[in-house]
Amino acid sequence: MTKVLVIHGPNLNLLGMREPHIYGGDSLEAIDELIQQKADELGLEVTIVQSNQEGELVDAIQQAYSWAQVIIINPAGYTHTSVALRDAIAAVRLPTIEVHLSNIFSREQFRHDSVTAGVCYGQISGFGAMSYILALYAAQHIIKEGPA
Ligand code: DQA
Repeated sequence: MTKVLVIHGPNLNLLGMREPHIYGGDSLEAIDELIQQKADELGLEVTIVQSNQEGELVDAIQQAYSWAQVIIINPAGYTHTSVALRDAIAAVRLPTIEVHLSNIFSREQFRHDSVTAGVCYGQISGFGAMSYILALYAAQHIIKEGPA
């Protein structure tokens, strides 16, 4: 079974109450349930982690090297700042899909740049919780068909 690590970055634990006009009203637990259900349907084995700490996110990516085939990551605020996350993704060389709930390109200028996207396989942005579901399909496709 294809093993997928799903990483939620900082402040995503507050989904539901956090700027619902931007991120929607679903809690992270509800989104994780959706992810789990779709993963079961697609025959993917997902492990889901959330952390507000940059170093813990780096550790999770490094550890994935030994057990995961694909990473799906919403680096949240670290998208726009973290060279450490970018370097970790580049180091493990697992196909990595960057996701965002909101369309980062329709928001403030500082969100238009992603430090991490350039070392990712691709990016899905703007579909709410569906961004994660689309990423699961992408993960399945990458594993079945190989690189695009
Ligand atoms: C986000 C977009 C980021 O700009 C922001 O800092 C987040 C969430 C998203 O999922 O839309 O925390 O990654």
